[in-house]
Amino acid sequence: MLLEMLGSKYPVIQGPIGAINDPSFVASISEAGGYGMLALGFMPTVDDAKKLIDEVKAKTDKPFGANIMIINPLNEKILPLLAEAGVKTVTTSVGFPGKIYPLIHELGMKGLHVLLSLKHAVSAEDAGADGIVVAGSEAGGLRSTNPESSTMILVPLIADHVKIPIVAAGGIADSRGYRAALALGAQGVQLGTRLMASAECPIHPKWKEQILQCQDGGTALLPVDNMMMRAIITPQLKARIESPGFDMKKEFQLKNASKAWNSAEFELVPAGAGQAAALINDIKPVKEIIEEMVS
Ligand SMILES: Cc1cc2nc3c(=O)[nH]c(=O)nc-3n(C[C@H](O)[C@H](O)[C@H](O)COP(=O)(O)O)c2cc1C
Repeated sequence: MLLEMLGSKYPVIQGPIGAINDPSFVASISEAGGYGMLALGFMPTVDDAKKLIDEVKAKTDKPFGANIMIINPLNEKILPLLAEAGVKTVTTSVGFPGKIYPLIHELGMKGLHVLLSLKHAVSAEDAGADGIVVAGSEAGGLRSTNPESSTMILVPLIADHVKIPIVAAGGIADSRGYRAALALGAQGVQLGTRLMASAECPIHPKWKEQILQCQDGGTALLPVDNMMMRAIITPQLKARIESPGFDMKKEFQLKNASKAWNSAEFELVPAGAGQAAALINDIKPVKEIIEEMVS
């Protein structure tokens, strides 16, 4: 049922990374049989979104999607562009799904709502989401300030309470993680960190290097604005945040993430990554990563 919604060869979705919107990277994932995704949550204008969508279309005829943030007022204009481009399924995050799903359905598309807790899974199903992406606490990216469960707990817990398809996200780096996710009740996976450490991913080489160097226990949740973000803790960063008077909330601001990550200025915002980084020892082509995972 999830594969039907995506139309891709494999139920492997590219986790959107807000600071990276590279149409070639998205297309490489779709070409490899996964579901490439644009991150359209923070688009400043509709024209910017259109340009990215057109560029992916020009690079692949395989299915691809996009993540939107429900709170973005431009969605009413961006969603029709996605439907026109033939996108079958989008993911939605940050906001109440009941607000946006009528429009998604009117346009003939389906949506998977991204969430971090059982409570939100139940309300997303009630609000009309066609599926959900369940992101456990191992995942890279922004998290809430609430206590959270890991993928191993959250996926089966939610599978016991909802009927719509589940995509597991967080901590999946290889075929063992993929098979575990399916065994826990998911129909597919969403990958962030593993695909960032791919040959095609355009992140800064120093960011990839930090992922390769990251060991067991090498990430932590750090406060960024009024949320938490999982990032790699290097020895230098550890010394800095433990130094007297260091105020993380003041030092790390989300508005600097794009600059920090694009130019490897990790003192502005540390290198975001999930706990899966400890399992990643090589930079491989996307096709190899996906095919090894589903084999
Ligand atoms: C640096 C970074 C930035 C991210 N930015 C976004 C984002 O803008 N929107 C979003 O929905 N998810 C975002 N995510 C979450 C990923 O899409 C994905 O769900 C997550 O990385 C899965 O966990 P994994 O890293 O263990 O594979 C981000 C993740 C990372 C590591």
